[in-house]
Amino acid sequence: MTHPNSPAALSILVDRATAMPIGDQIHASLRQAIVEGRLAPGQRLPSGRDLAAQLGVARGTIRVVYDRLIAENLVFGAGSSGTHVCSRLDVGRAGGKASLDGPLADFNRPFSSAPLPFQMGVPAHDAFPAKLWARMRTRAVRADAIAYTTYGDPRGEPALRAQIASHLAVSRQMQCHPDQIIVTSGYRQGLMLALTALRAHGRKAWLEEPGYPLGRRALEVIGAEVVPVPVDAEGLRVEAGVASAPDALLALVTPGQHAPLGVTMSPERRRALLDWAAARGAWIIEDDYLGEIQLDGRAAPALAAGEGAEHVVYIGAFSKTISPALGLGFVVAPRSATERLVEVSAVLAPAPNRTTQLAVTEFLRDGHYLRHLRQMKALYAERRRLTLTHVSEFLPGTLMAGLGVIAPLPQSADDRVIVGIARAHGLAPSALSAWYLRRSQAQGGLILSATNVHPDNIGAVCAKLASIVASSSSGTHQSNDRERGLGTWSRERP
Ligand SMILES: Cc1ncc(COP(=O)(O)O)c(C=O)c1O
Repeated sequence: MTHPNSPAALSILVDRATAMPIGDQIHASLRQAIVEGRLAPGQRLPSGRDLAAQLGVARGTIRVVYDRLIAENLVFGAGSSGTHVCSRLDVGRAGGKASLDGPLADFNRPFSSAPLPFQMGVPAHDAFPAKLWARMRTRAVRADAIAYTTYGDPRGEPALRAQIASHLAVSRQMQCHPDQIIVTSGYRQGLMLALTALRAHGRKAWLEEPGYPLGRRALEVIGAEVVPVPVDAEGLRVEAGVASAPDALLALVTPGQHAPLGVTMSPERRRALLDWAAARGAWIIEDDYLGEIQLDGRAAPALAAGEGAEHVVYIGAFSKTISPALGLGFVVAPRSATERLVEVSAVLAPAPNRTTQLAVTEFLRDGHYLRHLRQMKALYAERRRLTLTHVSEFLPGTLMAGLGVIAPLPQSADDRVIVGIARAHGLAPSALSAWYLRRSQAQGGLILSATNVHPDNIGAVCAKLASIVASSSSGTHQSNDRERGLGTWSRERP
């Protein structure tokens, strides 16, 4: 039987009689095999040495071919684990051209597939209330089918906005009118609405350092000048922001639970930030991505909840609390900016998909949302405890952070390299250093979400991760390797 990775099975034809260079012929054959799906996403390519031997060509020829395929985003190199076919090839298949998803490399991959252990930003897949949700969606589809064939309110369904307003009053102590709420497709759409409405182009914007990479990308896309402001154990160091850019238009922050360090902004820092915004007429964009999912005690009220809230644009999403597959979030605009935000939303991005909105309305109204959140908090607290225990065995100094843990690495290890190798082994840790704007300040470490680990898989996934870390940091391992800490934010933590 032919081996699936053999040149014959992959239809690699080398014709020395034609004028086409041999490297081009091999490249074209492999490309064809990938585009047609004979080499499946994730599949490992033959090693350069094997393929060269089987085809009777120089190894350097194969190396050049693989480099070309990597540059075209058709395959990726995973260090000693070899070269693998990329997972998103739709563009290439449709157009017969190379995949164009290069800019998405930093986003929450993998897309549209089962969440991997340690993958950030996704809730527990096994605990999603699928049956209940299917019932609600079915009812919503029927209601939507017989609804008027007319435009919906660009701010979102009034019933949903009313439910969100009541929920925020209870869970985040926010007093807002439903007309201040604009339903969006998620945090990112809310952020772009806010940045457009506040005219951030060409203006300075404070960004937490470390901070959510997609927040940074959004600021860059809109043309704002990003000013990194360090975070310590009390959250954003407001005085550092004031020292470097007092005239900034806005500050983009995660005060409830800093992403990814998990620290809650202290009352003094909250006050200082609100005072700066009031004194300078600046804006605070509050990214409340976890909402009330606080695993230690009760969540602090939103910044948009108290005095000074007229300077805060609050952005929430159901991505963490229900699922990112919903594609639903919301903005709460301060009264003075409501008209600007509503105008931008109506022109640029009216509220999405009425069926999903109706289903979520029922989910909230009938108490399922609160129940689900309660269950998820208990589940995540247990999964985080389990993850901390296991990871601390091979990476001492690991700390709880948000819905997971952050693990320091030996001095000799590169977190991005480890992340690349782990991905090829079916794990999805994130590199802490990728969350820094300034590479010189970047702290290395692994961000490990606990939402999709459980007693049945934790032993195996931790053993795999431990061996990847060990093999990636061996050789140059220093005796004081383990002493590398996690920076100032971790020092005063309990
Ligand atoms: C800091 C932060 N904000 C917001 C989000 C949610 O973004 P979206 O609703 O666009 O999926 C995430 C998701 O990972 C996040 O980490």
